[in-house]
Amino acid sequence: MTIYRHFYVKSHAKTTPDINLKDLPGSAGRLDVIARCINAAFWLSYGIRKDVVFHTILHGEPNPPVYIRMEGEKLRKVSPDERNIAIFIKKALERMKEDKEIESTPGIFVSKKSFEQLLEENKGRDFYLLDENGESIEKVEISSKPFFFLGDYKDLEEEEKELLYDYGAQPVSIGKNSYLSSHCIVIINWWLDRKGF
Ligand SMILES: C[S@@+](CC[C@H](N)C(=O)[O-])C[C@H]1O[C@@H](n2cnc3c(N)ncnc32)[C@H](O)[C@@H]1O
Repeated sequence: MTIYRHFYVKSHAKTTPDINLKDLPGSAGRLDVIARCINAAFWLSYGIRKDVVFHTILHGEPNPPVYIRMEGEKLRKVSPDERNIAIFIKKALERMKEDKEIESTPGIFVSKKSFEQLLEENKGRDFYLLDENGESIEKVEISSKPFFFLGDYKDLEEEEKELLYDYGAQPVSIGKNSYLSSHCIVIINWWLDRKGF
């Protein structure tokens, strides 16, 4: 049985497709952070992790929230560099419909969706909030339906954390240092690999 690894990273990136691919960290609203998280979630040196599902909600202006999901089993033609990943996010924003989810390119799904809707739709999974002050990952028994939640360059808002706790989320720490979100994802993937997931 495949154990799917779900990751959510909140994003403050802009929500229109007029993304300047030469300025991902600036005018695109730190889209570089999300691109690196996507790289960290999926790429091995010889291919893509098919057991990963990556979720983000873009919260930037002018049209938030925009929900994007990437499914490793179905992803095609995306390459691991930040610019290429950003091109696929740009295509998702260009093709998004206000009233329904669409598959903008193979394995990439886009729609209007709030954080609460995302949690409600995934409440059958076990939620883990990545938090420096949480329980050490060494002491936490990770379930076979894990869904990990992270901030980008800013932490999740308190209300978002409270909502996660309402859905039974467990705070999990990978150490006392505050790591970049993409590095946290690499560490979680490595940890799950070691555990034989
Ligand atoms: C770059 S950090 C956020 C930075 C910082 N806390 C702030 O708001 O300025 C991005 C995310 O990585 C996760 N994270 C970072 N270090 C962690 C650690 N040691 N254990 C668990 N999660 C961590 C948290 O989810 C955090 O929101």
